[in-house]
Amino acid sequence: MSDLVRITDVAPRDGLQNEPGVIATADKAALVRLLAASGVDEVEITSLVSPKWVPQLGDAEALLDLLAKAKPEGACYSVLVPNEKGMARAMAADERAGGSLIDKVAVFTAASETFSEKNTNASVAETIERFGPVVESARRHNKQVRGYISCVVRCPYEGDIEPRRVGEVARMLLDIGVDEIDLGDTIGAATPETIEPLLFELIEVLDGRPTNTFGNPTLTLHLHDTFGRAADCVREALALGVRSFDGSAGGLGGCPFASVDGERAPANISTSLLVRTIEDAGYRTNVNRAKLAHAGAFAERIVMAARLSEGSA
Ligand code: HMG
Ligand code: MG
Repeated sequence: MSDLVRITDVAPRDGLQNEPGVIATADKAALVRLLAASGVDEVEITSLVSPKWVPQLGDAEALLDLLAKAKPEGACYSVLVPNEKGMARAMAADERAGGSLIDKVAVFTAASETFSEKNTNASVAETIERFGPVVESARRHNKQVRGYISCVVRCPYEGDIEPRRVGEVARMLLDIGVDEIDLGDTIGAATPETIEPLLFELIEVLDGRPTNTFGNPTLTLHLHDTFGRAADCVREALALGVRSFDGSAGGLGGCPFASVDGERAPANISTSLLVRTIEDAGYRTNVNRAKLAHAGAFAERIVMAARLSEGSA
């Protein structure tokens, strides 16, 4: 098995969706470009969800059009899409850019019914139904499809989640044709002890297929880092064969619909810590750590400036 590990930076999407302050579109574009220049394999640049639900990313079209002006050679851009309307917006932006701006779309559901309702106003089965036309459109446009499953270890509303349930949802996503399953530890509850049975379940569901038709890993781990155990989970996952991880520059992030009792949802593992953990464990990444640190510092700066101007720092 290869020792090269794929890194996706989700800061422009997961990192900025939960910020109280408004980040200028030009700053978001600058962050995406710095991340692409750092050598991460993919940048999740925004969400094409309802701007009423996530106003922080309501400038998605403007951002996409700005990024279309100069996409760096070899960059891979993905966007979060909840339904057919989001997919139409994605493909319209891609068409305005000449067809090669967006490489991947990410649909998202959950292993918890309550979280699914709170996050998307739909049951898990309803979300899968919504994704059918999204996947069909992605196939027509030769775009990859990532399928996120949230709350793979614990749900903020339902408590612990059984690996078997995550496996069932993964099968539903694979049945409609997603190329990659991304396991979201939405509230950062995972430990090596809980990650192990979960990964065994997924390895069985994926039937020993480590890569998809695009040559990328079929399984990704998306860790939030609440109790400082995310790096331990990365090491455990590497040992079990996982070769794709998400991180967030500056350790920003959190799903607004995972906040309970007014507490901000937990942030993602920082991509710098992620890359350091992977490389210290003897694996390789394509990332230039100095350039990544620069992108992380920029992410922290724009967020802090917005928080200060909102009076919420
Ligand atoms: P809904 O209100 O049930 O949808 O929302 P609807 O179909 O009834 O439409 C209501 C309104 O939204 C209509 O507009 C639609 O046109 C509009 P109106 O007639 O009121 O003016 N609408 C849209 N507008 C723009 N783009 C769209 C779109 N769809 C409908 N795509 C919906 C359903 C899914 C849209 C809503 O619940 C939503 O946008 N949810 C977003 C949730 C979200 O972004 N959560 C954070 C990301 S997930 C996450 O962070 C977890 C992850 O990181 C992994 C992990 O950590 O676990 C991925
Ligand atoms: Mg997340």
